[in-house]
Amino acid sequence: MTGKIEVLISENEIKERIAEMGQIISERYAGKELLLVGVLTGSVFFLTELAKNITTPVEIDFVAASSYGNGQESSGHVVITKDISRNAWGKNVIIVEDIIDSGYTLKTLKELLTEKRPASIEVATLLDKPERRKVDVSVEYVGFEIPDEFVLGMGLDYEQKYRNLPYIGIMK
Ligand code: IMP
Ligand code: MG
Repeated sequence: MTGKIEVLISENEIKERIAEMGQIISERYAGKELLLVGVLTGSVFFLTELAKNITTPVEIDFVAASSYGNGQESSGHVVITKDISRNAWGKNVIIVEDIIDSGYTLKTLKELLTEKRPASIEVATLLDKPERRKVDVSVEYVGFEIPDEFVLGMGLDYEQKYRNLPYIGIMK
C-alpha cells in the first residue's frame, strides 16, 4: 500500500461540512453544556474543528481504544486503553470519532460511557462507511458517508502516518 494519494474530500468541503455540523449541534444543545469525548488519536483534527463551531460551552475529554493493530480489518475485540479523566455523570456527552467502520469500537465506547450515567449520549463522526457495519449502533451526526475504501488524512492514519493531511485521501 504505497503510491499516489487521491483526494476524496477536499479541505474546503470538510471545513464547510464541519461548520454545518457545529451549527446543528449548537441549536440542539442551546442553553445546555456539552462534554465532547474524542476517541484518540484519529478524532483530534475533527474534534478541534467541530468544537470551534459549537456556540454552547463545551468540555473536552478523551478515550482511547485499540482493535486494529497495524492491519486494516477490525478484530471485533476492542480494548479500552484510556478512560476519560473527569466525571461524565449527568452531562450531555457527544462521542467524537474520525470514522465508523465495523462499529465495534463505538459500541464498546458507548457501553463504557453509559455506565457513567451521563444525561445523554450522542455520536458525531467525520466519516461513515455504512456498508462495513457489523454491529448496529446509532450515529446522530455524520460528516460524510463514504464507500468501502481505506482512507487517510484529517486524523486517519495508515500505520500511524498521514494523519496530518488536511484532506481525506485514498491511497492508490
Ligand atoms: P470500527 O471499530 O471498525 O468501527 O473501527 C473504527 C476505527 O478503525 C476508526 O476509529 C479508525 O481508527 C479505524 N479505521 C476504519 N476505517 C479506516 C480507514 O479507512 N482509514 C483509517 N482508519 C480506519
Ligand atoms: Mg480511531
